[in-house]
Amino acid sequence: MSQQEQWSSKIGFILAAAGSAIGLGAIWKFPYIAGENGGGAFFITFIAFTILLGLPLLLAEFSIGRTAQNNAVDSYRTIAKGTKWHYVGILGMVTSFILLSFYSVVGGWIVIYLLKTVTGGMSGLSSAQYGEVFGQTISNPLLSISVQFLFILITILVVSRGVQKGIEKASRIMMPALFVLFLILVVRSLTLEGAGEGIVFLLQPDFSKITSQTVLEAMGQSFFTLSVGVSVMVTYSSYLPKNQSLPKAASSIVGINILIVLLAGLAIFPAVFSFGLEPGSGPVLLFNVLPTVFSQMPLGMGFFAAFLLLFLFAALTSAFSMLEIIVSALSKGNERLRQKYAWIIGLSIFITGIPSALSFGVLGDVTLWDKTIFDLADYAVSNILMPTGALLISIFVPLKMKKSDLYEELKRGSTLKKAVFNVWYSLIRYVAPILIIAVMIDVITG
Ligand code: PHE
Repeated sequence: MSQQEQWSSKIGFILAAAGSAIGLGAIWKFPYIAGENGGGAFFITFIAFTILLGLPLLLAEFSIGRTAQNNAVDSYRTIAKGTKWHYVGILGMVTSFILLSFYSVVGGWIVIYLLKTVTGGMSGLSSAQYGEVFGQTISNPLLSISVQFLFILITILVVSRGVQKGIEKASRIMMPALFVLFLILVVRSLTLEGAGEGIVFLLQPDFSKITSQTVLEAMGQSFFTLSVGVSVMVTYSSYLPKNQSLPKAASSIVGINILIVLLAGLAIFPAVFSFGLEPGSGPVLLFNVLPTVFSQMPLGMGFFAAFLLLFLFAALTSAFSMLEIIVSALSKGNERLRQKYAWIIGLSIFITGIPSALSFGVLGDVTLWDKTIFDLADYAVSNILMPTGALLISIFVPLKMKKSDLYEELKRGSTLKKAVFNVWYSLIRYVAPILIIAVMIDVITG
C-alpha cells in the first residue's frame, strides 16, 4: 500500500486513530496506576495533562502527518529538509518497538482469559480464587509466551496486509459494542454493596498524595492513552484526505478516551472496595477484579467472554498502530517490503518481549531499581521515551512549520476560529515544552 493511499471512508481515519488510542492504556493501565497513586488526585492530574498537553500534541502530530503526507520518519524530512529532525520519527519507531514488546504480554493475558472463559474454566470461583488462578496462569512460562506470540502473530498478519483492509472494517462494530458493554459493567459495579467507597477513591482528590513521581506518571499516562509522542498519529494522519477536520478528529478522540478512562475507573474501583481488594495491586488489578464483577451478573460468564473479545480487539487496534509506524517507515509504500518487514520486525519484537512475559514468573526476581523487566520497559516507554518524543514534537512544530501554514492546514474542512488556533499554538509553543521539562526536572531533582 502506498503512502499516498487514503482511508476508504471519512470515518475510517477517526476509527483507526481512536482504535490506536483506546486500548490497554485506558482500560488496563489507568486503573492500576491510579490505584497505586491514590486515586482522585491522580485522575484530576491526568485529565489536566490530557487537555493541556495531550490534545494539543495530538493535533500537532496530525498537522505534521497531513502536511507532509509521508511516513513517520520521512514526514520530518519533508518538512525540515537536510536537518536531523527525522530522528524524532526514529525515536518513535524505537519506542513503539519496546512498547509492543510488553504490550503483547498483556494482550496475551486477555487471550488466556478469553480461552478459559469460553471453555468454562472461569465459572463459580470466589474473588480470591480468581486472583490465584490468574497468578498461576501468568507465571506459567510456556503459556504466557505462547499467548504473547499469538497476539503478535495477529498483529503481524493484519499489518502485513496493509492499513485499510486490515484495520478499518471491524472497528465500526467492535468499538461501539465495547462501549455498551462497559456501560453495563459500570452499572453492575456501581450497584455492588459498598461501591460508594470506590467512587470516593476515584473522584475525590486528596492532593497530599501527589508527588513529583505521581505527576510524571499522570503525564506519561496521558501521552500513553492518546498514543502521542511516538509519531503513530503522524503516520495515521498521512493517509488522511485533505478535506477532513483535524481539530474535530482530535477532540472527539480525546473525548472518547476520557470517557473510557472514566468508565474503566467506575467499573473497577467500586468493585475493588466492595470485594475488599487492594487498589494498588499493580498490573494484575483489572484481571483480578473483573471476573468477580461479571460473576455477580446474570449470564455473567457470557458477558465476560464478550467483554474480553472486545477488549482484545481494542488492544489489537493499538498494537497494529505500533507495528504500522515501524513497517511503513521501513517499507516506504512498497507492498512486498511491507510484508517482509511486518514479519521481521514483529518476530523481533516478540523475542525482545519474552523477558517481560517471564517477569511474572521465572524472572520475577530479576529487578533493577526495584522494578521487574516488564515494569522497567513500561516505565521507560511511558515516563521517559514518550515524554521525550512529545517534547521534541512540541519544539519541532513551531520551529519548523510556518504559523500561517499550520493555520491553513488545521482550517481545512473545519470551522476553526483564529482565537482557538492561537490558544492551541501557545499551548504547543510555550506550555507543552515548559511543562514537560519542568516535570522531568522535578523528578530528577526530587
Ligand atoms: N494508546 C494506546 C493505549 O492506550 C497505546 C499506544 C501508545 C499505542 C503509543 C500506540 C502508540 O493502549
